[in-house]
Amino acid sequence: MRYIIAKNQNETVEKIVSLAKRRGFVFQSSEIYGGLNGCWDYGPLGVDLLKNVKEEWWKAMTYREDIEGLDASILMHPRVWEASGHVENFTDPMIDCKQCKARFRLDTLGEMISKKVKDKIFSLRVDEMFTNALHNICVRLDYDFFAGTKLSEFYDVLNNFLKNSENEAKYLEALLSDPKVFLNLKTIISCPNCGNVGTFTEARKFNLMFKTFLGPVDDSANIIYLRPETAQGIFVNFLNVLNSSRQKLPFGIAQIGKAFRNEINTKNFLFRTREFEQMEMQYFCKPGTDKKHYDEWKEKRIEWFKSLGMTSTKLRFHDHPKEKLAHYAKEATDIEYEFPFGWGEIEGIHNRTDFDLGRHQQYSGKSQQYFDDATKEKFIPFIIETSAGASRSFMAFLIDAYYEEDVRGEQRSVLRFHPKLAPIKAAILPLVNKDGMPEISRKIETDLRPYLRIFYDDKGAIGRRYRRMDEAGTPFSITVDTQTLQDETVTVRERDSMEQVRVSISSLLNYLLDKLR
Ligand code: GAP
Repeated sequence: MRYIIAKNQNETVEKIVSLAKRRGFVFQSSEIYGGLNGCWDYGPLGVDLLKNVKEEWWKAMTYREDIEGLDASILMHPRVWEASGHVENFTDPMIDCKQCKARFRLDTLGEMISKKVKDKIFSLRVDEMFTNALHNICVRLDYDFFAGTKLSEFYDVLNNFLKNSENEAKYLEALLSDPKVFLNLKTIISCPNCGNVGTFTEARKFNLMFKTFLGPVDDSANIIYLRPETAQGIFVNFLNVLNSSRQKLPFGIAQIGKAFRNEINTKNFLFRTREFEQMEMQYFCKPGTDKKHYDEWKEKRIEWFKSLGMTSTKLRFHDHPKEKLAHYAKEATDIEYEFPFGWGEIEGIHNRTDFDLGRHQQYSGKSQQYFDDATKEKFIPFIIETSAGASRSFMAFLIDAYYEEDVRGEQRSVLRFHPKLAPIKAAILPLVNKDGMPEISRKIETDLRPYLRIFYDDKGAIGRRYRRMDEAGTPFSITVDTQTLQDETVTVRERDSMEQVRVSISSLLNYLLDKLR
């Protein structure tokens, strides 16, 4: 008898981080030097899990007629980031203490503030303009909770909202991130470093793009940026791809690659890091058809996560309300996953209109128009973007797969990865290291290795070896035992059901390939 005693909503991120390290999925970057904040290394199992996530995405996106692949360089012409708006707008507010010169990012300041000061902040009442500003913040935070609330009843509704500690943290972060509201708060917050009150400067903008220099001279004329998103590499190659592939609208360009952001808040493991990978696809279409493509891509993308085994009740859309849309977006939604720390975006789908190509046309002086043969019209295409984080999806798949179970009084941890994502596809386990079993096992290993990632393990009791494979998420364990010596069959144990079937060695490869399809 087997029953599940814990599922990941009860697990902390720390537990996953520890499993990830112990089993070689993810290590802290530069760990022997104390680590580098917001950067992580993928270990032997992690690198294959990540590769499999990206491969499944690549297949879903490019194994079709209307989408081409691209791999643009990370470093791009600095004008790209002016055209995209990143130089001007990709910023977060920060403040300095005039007394001790310590510098803080506004939205992380909340973590350093005492309960007493927090209560003071929450009960601060200034004037109607201030109340209005708080109301706007709240509507942005939780539209359903606050929409339609009159100003006269706002503080009662707010008090109800703040009864939930998650809401309290979100609200405080939003208050501190709003430079105008902060002007009122800074008189009651003490500097976490020197303790002085009223010594903060006004908030200033801090750009999240990493800067570096092109060539040997470190001066401002040579500044370039590490790309904060892969999307711009696609936009600036729109005409190259169109002309070389002879595609016609609607068509898409897909790309997987690294992106870099000097993020303020890098907590929650791989959720928000400074270096990460994105899987982005930009779908170019005729204005007027954009809504149809947006709706189609929304459904396709959530189905992709489900098709790879992600629990469907832990996936949802979070449509952006009109007042929260970026200035260029007509419609936007997040695909969210329910992490142990709450719902979080794993992919964004945006109707970016003709903003991006229009801006690149303006900044480069090169026409980005499309000529429609059928109607003889010229126009700038609209773009539907699907933008997923490879590393964030990796984390969601890892957490979603993690179970602790009681099996006949013994506890096992198991990663129930979809077989397509599992880093190791099959383990080969000789029951004992004698009687010809190692030789047969090695022969099976040699035959399977060209096709599948295999793990050979002959150390310890067979039950222990199964547990190790369960914890690594290996879907099949192949045992060579006494019966193998008689009839050339092996036992194949399936990770989730733990059922065992006998399969002849000669049909083993086809058996596994069929199961992995
Ligand atoms: N081109 C649009 C764009 O970049 P975004 O919402 O900023 O949109 C898209 O990012 C996806 O990239 C997010 O849904 C998330 O999965 C991932 N992502 C963004 N910032 C990240 C970070 N600091 N660490 C890990 N993943 C991140």
